[in-house]
Amino acid sequence: MRHMLEIDDLSVDELERILELARQSVTDVPQLLAGQGVACYFAKPSARTRNSTEMAVVQLGGHPVYITADEVGVDQRESAEDVTRTLACYHRAVCARVFEHELLERMAALDVVPIVNLLSDGGHPLQAIADVLTIEAERGPVAGRNIIYVGDANNVARSFVLAVGALGGKVTVVAPPDRRFNAVDADRLSAAGAPFTYGDRPETVTGADVVYTDTWISMGQEGDREQLLRAFEGYRVDEAMMARNPDAVFLHCLPAHRNEEVTDAVLDGAQSRIWRQAANRLPAVRAVLQWLLEVNAGAAS
Ligand code: CP
Ligand code: NVA
Repeated sequence: MRHMLEIDDLSVDELERILELARQSVTDVPQLLAGQGVACYFAKPSARTRNSTEMAVVQLGGHPVYITADEVGVDQRESAEDVTRTLACYHRAVCARVFEHELLERMAALDVVPIVNLLSDGGHPLQAIADVLTIEAERGPVAGRNIIYVGDANNVARSFVLAVGALGGKVTVVAPPDRRFNAVDADRLSAAGAPFTYGDRPETVTGADVVYTDTWISMGQEGDREQLLRAFEGYRVDEAMMARNPDAVFLHCLPAHRNEEVTDAVLDGAQSRIWRQAANRLPAVRAVLQWLLEVNAGAAS
């Protein structure tokens, strides 16, 4: 059974097939989920991911069921394995936003229902698919583009570097030394053949086609706020940085912590494409669900 936990679960052809499905008109979407459910489990808050996933399920003819961590009590009321086996009785897929990436791996290891990562502390693959859709629409193929990621090298950055790398591109990650990819992620990126380099200080970023940032304080890290603000001092994306990169579009997965990692003027400025990027979350997740349903149906027949 195929799952979608991270971009490197996919071959290049499969990623390109998903991008192609994402570009299809909503009127051409097959009703693969008619009369069926998809469980949408959230252990963290969400605006874009919950709404895009629920609407994607609707567009595929199905019914999304939103489930909170408090409600099912994963590994408290019941084990993650028993929750997954239970949801598999009623749903064609289980989509989950969790803290530890390993929890998704435990759910997927059962092979009783396809599991989709809606963001873990490890990665955010559906976001990365929306990101490359946005870049391709704005600037053409990612290969050969000067793509700069400024900020925390964690979940969003990992999936983004994997997606850009699979499509033949390379990301320059501009992050303080102690907020760069950890050794496990760096090895994973290297094993996936996803090239990245570390850039110098943000003042030296020039000639970019894309400038991307994410919050400095990810969900679950609120207790480290003061320390993180100090670590990222000087890494804010501001008007001066965008002026040094006049041909760049600005991307952010959102939610933005306005005037922390990026200024209002950049978020709301002429180079910003954040709302197109947010809108692309819907075709991205719909395409992933469609691909998973098709590929798993093929494997079963
Ligand atoms: N980008 C993103 O995943 O947004 P939400 O946390 O609102 O879902
Ligand atoms: N890095 C952020 C992404 C939110 C979509 C977080 O994990 O909170």
